[in-house]
Amino acid sequence: MIRGKFVVACAILAFAGTVDAELNQDQAERAVETRQSVLHLMGWNMAPLGAMARDRIEFDAARVETNAARLSALSQMMADAFAADTRANDVTTEALDVIWEQPDDFAAKIQNTIDAGNGLVSAAATGDEGAMREAIGALGSSCGSCHDDFRLDD
Ligand code: HEC
Repeated sequence: MIRGKFVVACAILAFAGTVDAELNQDQAERAVETRQSVLHLMGWNMAPLGAMARDRIEFDAARVETNAARLSALSQMMADAFAADTRANDVTTEALDVIWEQPDDFAAKIQNTIDAGNGLVSAAATGDEGAMREAIGALGSSCGSCHDDFRLDD
């Protein structure tokens, strides 16, 4: 964990002063691994909430509250996790080039998910199941809205 943070910090520092410099292969692979890890954890925390919203599993307000807090924290890592531009590297990724071609649009999508995550945290704090279900739907839509434009279709 410490080592991972150190490596990421170094990658960011190495990148900071030289905006146009390409990442070497090792840096690019670590950058992809880092952002996919953040998204993987977002998917892991979102999956049970989506299943609750669709009545596939029993609604569990305590779990909603826990996962909402995690999703709020994780979504705030997205901007940093995508800072490294890997367009020029030979990496296996579903991230489309348009992420770095239209950074303002991408940042707006991130902000939507941060806001929706915070909305779910607030809804969970009220204990109102209907409000939580609605907020889960809004959060899920914010994920899909970014995937539509910025992630390779499956
Ligand atoms: C701002 C854009 C954006 C938002 C918002 C976003 N994603 Fe993604 N997501 C991506 C991109 C781009 C990838 C592909 C990353 C790659 O392959 O390098 C991705 C990949 C993923 C993956 C696959 C990760 C892996 O293991 O490779 C999952 C799961 C995922 N997203 C879930 C979510 C969930 C759940 C949310 C909302 C809570 C969300 N995403 C919000 C852009 C976004």
